[in-house]
Amino acid sequence: MYSTLKELTDKAEKLNMTIGAFNMHNLEMLPDMMRAAKEVGAPIIIQTSVDTAKYIGYSVIAAVVKELANHYMIDAALHLDHARDLDAIQDAIVAGYSSIMFDGSNLSFKENILKTRLVADYAHARGVSVEGELGTIGGTEEGISVSEDDKIYTRPEDALTFVQETNVDALAVAIGTNHGQFKSKTDVKIPLLKEIHQVVAVPLVIHGGTGVKEADYPELINNGIRKFNVGTDLLVNWTQEAKAAFGETAVNKSLRYNVIPANQKIKEIVKHKMTLFMNLESPLHVE
Ligand code: 13P
Repeated sequence: MYSTLKELTDKAEKLNMTIGAFNMHNLEMLPDMMRAAKEVGAPIIIQTSVDTAKYIGYSVIAAVVKELANHYMIDAALHLDHARDLDAIQDAIVAGYSSIMFDGSNLSFKENILKTRLVADYAHARGVSVEGELGTIGGTEEGISVSEDDKIYTRPEDALTFVQETNVDALAVAIGTNHGQFKSKTDVKIPLLKEIHQVVAVPLVIHGGTGVKEADYPELINNGIRKFNVGTDLLVNWTQEAKAAFGETAVNKSLRYNVIPANQKIKEIVKHKMTLFMNLESPLHVE
């Protein structure tokens, strides 16, 4: 069933698991992402950047995600990732996205609260969930580089104020992850996550999931991570598979020969991540 982020994270909270939020970069990879969810039997969040949404069309993406969710009988949300522009948020909501992220992490604390609150009021009135961000996540966000020196970790006391004042449904936390980190893995600050989780009741979100060690997943999930973003892993693997296939396939052969292997790789990765995100070895409730 087509769902909101809040509906999916509520389920994740009850089952002490996290929901994989996978960035799609083209329409080709989308059916196999949804088939992966069907085979694992877990809910999925499909997310797009603003640029991908503009490239394909917000309403085209929303129509296809809704159709696939119905077709495969899976719980799926469609989320707009890292939107800083209120027009983009409005376009996504009008087109039928069920969740959006307002990324005010480049603003002052007060401005971030004010704008996120504005977005949350607008989105909630239309039945759409909202993710906010506090602190800065390293790496590259939509071409905006956040260097190691400029990184601001989420402060637990700020997180509490931010959540209370903005009414967000989920909070992206800066705990040492970096967007686009695919050649190495990061050391996530689990003690900081624990402190944030102790004071904040909303579901927490990991960005830069590609660079997170799989061995850290259980502890992250047991400490309130209910949405887990993975993008670069899919992008890099799709591109590598497609490059190899395009290199070998005669130019007059169907494009399927080039694209299907790349999509199958996506399905394999999404299934693998989703299985880990179910947190099967951990108890249903963590004290
Ligand atoms: P990665 O591309 O590093 O996996 O991060 C995805 C993400 O957090 C999207 O917002």
